[in-house]
Amino acid sequence: MDKIRVTGGVPLRGVVSISGAKNAALPAMIASLLTAETIELENLPDVIDIRTTRKLLSEFGVEADVKQGGSAVLRARRVTGCEAPYDLVKTMRASILVLGPLLGRFGRARVSLPGGCAIGSRPVNLHIEGLKKMGARCEIVHGYVEALSEGLRGANILFDTVTVTGTENLMMAACLADGETTLDNAACEPEVADLAGLLNSMGAQIEGAGTRTISIRGVKELHGCRYRIIPDRIEAGTFAAAAVITRGEIDIAGCRPDHMTAVLKQLEQAGAEIEVGKDSVRVCGKNPIRSLDVTTHPYPAFPTDMQAQYMALMTQGDGSAVITESIFENRFMHALEMARMGADIIIDGRRAVVKGGQALTGARVLASDLRASASLILAGLVAKGDTFIDRVYHLDRGYYHIEEKLSRLGAIIERIR
Ligand code: EPU
Repeated sequence: MDKIRVTGGVPLRGVVSISGAKNAALPAMIASLLTAETIELENLPDVIDIRTTRKLLSEFGVEADVKQGGSAVLRARRVTGCEAPYDLVKTMRASILVLGPLLGRFGRARVSLPGGCAIGSRPVNLHIEGLKKMGARCEIVHGYVEALSEGLRGANILFDTVTVTGTENLMMAACLADGETTLDNAACEPEVADLAGLLNSMGAQIEGAGTRTISIRGVKELHGCRYRIIPDRIEAGTFAAAAVITRGEIDIAGCRPDHMTAVLKQLEQAGAEIEVGKDSVRVCGKNPIRSLDVTTHPYPAFPTDMQAQYMALMTQGDGSAVITESIFENRFMHALEMARMGADIIIDGRRAVVKGGQALTGARVLASDLRASASLILAGLVAKGDTFIDRVYHLDRGYYHIEEKLSRLGAIIERIR
């Protein structure tokens, strides 16, 4: 299995271009299930989760052509099956997103329950409860959600917890439902708003996406369209943190600074110099890094998907920083690996206390999930000597050629096959 070797000590310099957002691209591809017409998507990142989604859609009989260069042509003219099997769902939890569209258009779906994962228990009860409120019958049988409906109807749904894919699933289900659906305490993430943008281009009637209340007036059918996916704010944030931790200076091109406000503010307060352009950000890390607490929350606050990368940065801070993870109960696995590199991190439930100013030394480390992998690369970029990161497949699920992008910025990094 591939490994990444990073040799620390080089300040990053240059320009990096940001790819399309994985977490916007996955629901967009799945939304193609809602129409018999052709959906053309642009700016898909070439990452493994996109290939897994193509495979998943093919299971249903969708003609899915994902081209090199980031475009895809998807057509769900006929659907030959409505089952998302365990083997695919276990590798990519976002597969649960097929539930809403399959039920909305075909009245049936059988989707394996994802189960727990490396960052927490991650239940999907709110997806299922919402679909039931819209009139679906859902049962858990042999580890699968089996859902049936003779036609979904609009409903008022209040989420107990903000859920990104839960909001997306119900928004897609509601597009073809009879009447109006209101989603309250909905996720405001840019990826949710981007999905609504696509669905509206397909003829849906959605208002309020990007706010806490979304209303969807059901329509009889949706049609084809062409749509461009937003840039990946987490990839952009990861490169910003990489610039600061290495004391470098980089231009992050092709991003949406307005989607990164909390992250850029946090980095700025931690000492970075940030210059925001229309679709770019310049990040300079020449100042000392200040230790600064942070708590993850749903958008627009500081994202859980940047928590691990921020922890790597705080190992180089001038004092102690408390990092509180409020979204997932078990998202500190990277801390133990960073400790193997010499970081001083104490975990207490959902809080991690990171004592800065420790010189990291390269070590062999294991990546437990996607963002943990990125954080270990960041730690490796400042560690003395070589860091070898194992289980790189996590990284490949969500970052497009990160080692190539970093080496173009001057990092000494390579993939060992
Ligand atoms: N939750 C429930 N019940 C549900 C659904 C969620 O209790 O039915 C809880 C979860 O356990 C968690 C919280 O709600 O405590 C938020 O989870 P959410 O449902 O928002 O997470 P998700 O939709 O499964 C997406 C991203 C994640 C990202 C989270 C939070 C996609 C495909 N995944 O997951 O991305 O961390 O939102 O922002 O959009 C990543 O890219 O590395 C990644 C993990």
